[in-house]
Amino acid sequence: MSKDSTLRLLAVAFCLCLVCSILVSVAAVGLKGRQENNKNREKRRNILQIANLYEPGTSVEEQFKKVQTRIIDLEKGRFADPSISGVNAAEKDGKDRSIIPADKDSAGIQSRSRFVEAYLVMEKGRFTQIILPVYGKGLWSTMYGFIALGPDLSTVSGFGFYEHGETPGLGGEIDNPAWRGKWPGKGVYDQAGNLRIEVVKGVVDAKSPDAEYKVDGISGATLTARGVSNLLSYWLGENGYQPFLHNLRKSGEVAP
Ligand SMILES: Cc1cc2nc3c(=O)[nH]c(=O)nc-3n(C[C@H](O)[C@H](O)[C@H](O)COP(=O)(O)O)c2cc1C
Repeated sequence: MSKDSTLRLLAVAFCLCLVCSILVSVAAVGLKGRQENNKNREKRRNILQIANLYEPGTSVEEQFKKVQTRIIDLEKGRFADPSISGVNAAEKDGKDRSIIPADKDSAGIQSRSRFVEAYLVMEKGRFTQIILPVYGKGLWSTMYGFIALGPDLSTVSGFGFYEHGETPGLGGEIDNPAWRGKWPGKGVYDQAGNLRIEVVKGVVDAKSPDAEYKVDGISGATLTARGVSNLLSYWLGENGYQPFLHNLRKSGEVAP
């Protein structure tokens, strides 16, 4: 075969492709564990930040020791049997997902898993917060976040998103610490147990009797803000965590 023959060129290109693809595959498989660890650490850091527990400079693993991971069975409205190892197992086989009827799907997510991972914060042996995952459609994207509730299971102690595709400077202002700072102290349910929390258009009238349940809107991002209200309405409502929170309050399992 001559040095410059087409066959030789193709053979060299083929060998090069083969070697490169083997290298890429080996790297992808070899780094999978590390990627999973990083993803997990990032998720834990987000949970700590949203619950106002994150201390920069201290390891996330160390700080996460005060957080207990528990699985909620949304169908039963209780913590799931401890033999259920994790949401991922349930999510992967898709068996535990149920379709959400359109008239009940205010979050715009179409289906959800029966099992959800939640996080209980215990400080000095006392329950101080529960952190619940929430997600739903904004204007351009599905927004993923956590809401933290205090010991009464009705007052927000923290709220924020860790992933979304809203426009920076408009809908993206949901990440603005000033806006996130408006949530702690807001009430989710009223005395009668009705779901009340929502984002309003404009600024909340502090004199209004409902002010404790209302959060200022984001100027130029009414549609994203509406998405936030809608997803909270789903997740904290009767098809989301409301029955679970009601049962948990009654059980006294996490009494402050
Ligand atoms: C390029 C572009 C990006 C936009 N991104 C968002 C967004 O992320 N979230 C949002 O609610 N509105 C966004 N808007 C504005 C909406 O179209 C709409 O005007 C706005 O939600 C109305 O809010 P306002 O009543 O507070 O002005 C965007 C508009 C444009 C032109």
